[in-house]
Amino acid sequence: MAVPDRVLTNHDLEKMVDTSDQWIRERTGMFARRVSDDSTAASDLAFQASEKALAASNVSAEDLDAILVATVSGDYSWPATACILQKKLGAKNAMAFDLSAACSGFVYGLSIAQAYIQSGQYKNILLVGVDLLTKVVDWTDRNTCVLFGDGAGAVVIQPHEEKGVLCSELGADGSAADMLCVRCGGSRVPVTQEALDEKKQFLFMNGREIFRYAVRGMLQSCNKVLERTQKTIDDVSLIIPHQANTRILEAVAQKLGLSLKERFYLNIEKYANTSAATIPIALHESLEEGRLKQGDLAIFVSFGGGLTWGANLVQF
Ligand code: UT7
Repeated sequence: MAVPDRVLTNHDLEKMVDTSDQWIRERTGMFARRVSDDSTAASDLAFQASEKALAASNVSAEDLDAILVATVSGDYSWPATACILQKKLGAKNAMAFDLSAACSGFVYGLSIAQAYIQSGQYKNILLVGVDLLTKVVDWTDRNTCVLFGDGAGAVVIQPHEEKGVLCSELGADGSAADMLCVRCGGSRVPVTQEALDEKKQFLFMNGREIFRYAVRGMLQSCNKVLERTQKTIDDVSLIIPHQANTRILEAVAQKLGLSLKERFYLNIEKYANTSAATIPIALHESLEEGRLKQGDLAIFVSFGGGLTWGANLVQF
């Protein structure tokens, strides 16, 4: 994982917008987030996380067959941040592309990597979840600016007879695409002075509506991966969820009949919502803290813009 050094706390935000530490903590579970400096872009954090993932898995950059970068805040609209990362790593034998599934990007990416591995097409895949949404939030809008942080997480995926992704389940509902979006910069509304005056370059979110969808989508995804593999929730040691709001996770845990503290990994307090990076960052920290052992089953589960959602059932 990689996060910027600069820490922005709720108390710092109290000085920037009309908010309070108490509101942010109670409504979201967040306390701090990391914020990049002007010179840092997605490929920089992705590079730091990728180098660590390659070293940890004893794979050289030249061994990589494929680089997948899940992001909605890449260095540029195009070319793909994955191509910029490929150059930085010197991974000259790898194909590279970005995938856009917002906060669900890592779960989507893992499903794609799983399919490539199962088909035998690729043997060494680097998957990165990276977002720097602090670059696209309106720092005068208390509804959104308190919620996001920057970060990256990377994994190397290889074939294995027993371990790995057992099952992935993905979903989307484009009828609610306008609930969480950046409203200019694409071919629908290019960047014009008019668009900038209307603040369309910033992240827009209908948080209250998304909240309801999120609980339903995450719950449904968990249940589907269990059904499809004929497992029960009791077989699962740890759920590593997208970290958007502790209250969303409380609702999911309650509906699954689980204790949030014991069976979910939470680090939202430290990093807030890092979009596609929340799950790989949480995975890294849960491994470091010994929350996952050989033989354990875990669920990665997410929900985000698109709308998109999904889960992976993973054998460690
Ligand atoms: O990761 C991608 C997917 N995203 C999500 O899953 C996010 C889902 N949504 C949420 O997490 C929550 O809806 C939010 C945290 C975004 C908002 O929490 P909420 O409990 O749904 O609050 P609300 O939007 O219903 O707003 C309640 C009140 C409003 O005031 P009024 O209209 O009741 O007077 C807001 O203006 O809280 C106010 N408010 C704030 N007050 C202090 C909104 N943001 C703030 C703030 N500080 N930062």
